[in-house]
Amino acid sequence: MKNITIASGILTKHEAGHCEKLPYKICRLSIQNLDDVVNIRAFANRSIGNLFLDRRPPSQIEQILAQNLSLGLFCQDELVGIRLTAYPSVDTPYLLDALPIPPQEIHRHARLTGVVILPPYRGQNFGSHLTQISLQELKTLGKEVVWATVSPSNYPSLRLFLNLNFRIYRLVKLHENCDRFVLKTDAQMKPLALSPPKFIEHSDFVAQTELLDRGWVGYAIERHALGYRIAYNRELDVPSTIPLLTEEGSVTETVELD
Ligand SMILES: CC(C)(COP(=O)(O)OP(=O)(O)OC[C@H]1O[C@@H](n2cnc3c(N)ncnc32)[C@H](O)[C@@H]1OP(=O)(O)O)[C@@H](O)C(=O)NCCC(=O)NCCS
Repeated sequence: MKNITIASGILTKHEAGHCEKLPYKICRLSIQNLDDVVNIRAFANRSIGNLFLDRRPPSQIEQILAQNLSLGLFCQDELVGIRLTAYPSVDTPYLLDALPIPPQEIHRHARLTGVVILPPYRGQNFGSHLTQISLQELKTLGKEVVWATVSPSNYPSLRLFLNLNFRIYRLVKLHENCDRFVLKTDAQMKPLALSPPKFIEHSDFVAQTELLDRGWVGYAIERHALGYRIAYNRELDVPSTIPLLTEEGSVTETVELD
C-alpha cells in the first residue's frame, strides 16, 4: 500500500562533494514502514549516540506508527527522514515517561518522539517542516500541549524546537543516566517577562537547574565562538480574565482564560 502524500517538491542531495536536485515527497508513515524507520533510528543512535538517545524497541515504534501521525521524507522512493509523533494512550503509556502530565489532562497532550534527517538531506529545513506539519495536525486533533525531550548538547535539535515556540521546562536524567531537557509548547503559552533574559552556557547544568527550579524557562538559543548559550526568562502568570482591546484601544469585553 502506498503512503499518503502530504507535500512534495525538489530538494538538494549533498553527498561526497556532489549536489544533486531530486524530487521529494513528505508522506504519512504507517506500520508498513517499520523496518525503514527502525533502520534510520539505528543510524542516528550509531552516529550520534546519546544525543539521539531514544532507545525504544521496535514494538513501541510500531505502536507509535499505528497512530498514523508520524511523517516520512521520501526521496526516490527511499525513506530519508522521519518525524515520529504520538500521544499517550492505554497502548502507549511509556510516552508519559519524564513528563509531568496530570492524569485527567492526558487527552490534551502529545509527544514528539524522534526526528531524524539523513546527512545528505540536512540543513534544508526538513526537520523543522515535518515538525511544523505534525504540530498543525496535533492542533486539529485537540492536542494542545506537545512535549519533546532533547539532549542539552544537541544544538540543531534544540534550535529546531526553540524556533518552533517550544520552551525548556526541566533538566532530567533519562535512560542510562543521560541528561535531557524536557520541552513543551502549549496553545495557551504564558507570556514571558519583559525583564532582560539570562544567557546560560548549555553545559552549565547547575545554573540552568537553579533557574528551572525557580520557574524560569529556556526559550531561545544562540551560538558563539566556543559553543552556545540558552536564553532564560520567567513566564508571567496572566490573570484569568483579561480585557479585550478594540483597534482604537478601548475595552469592549473580557475573555476567560482557563
Ligand atoms: C536535528 C535534525 C533532525 C535537524 O534536521 P534538519 O533538516 O537539518 O534541520 P533544519 O534544516 O530544519 O534546521 C533546524 C535549525 O537547526 C539549525 N541547524 C541544523 N543543522 C545544523 C548544524 N549542523 N549546525 C548548526 N545549526 C544547524 C538550522 O540552521 C535551523 O536553524 P535556523 O532556522 O534558525 O537557521 C538533524 O540534524 C538530525 O537528523 N540529527 C540527528 C538526529 C537527532 O539528533 N535528532 C533529534 C533527536 S531529539
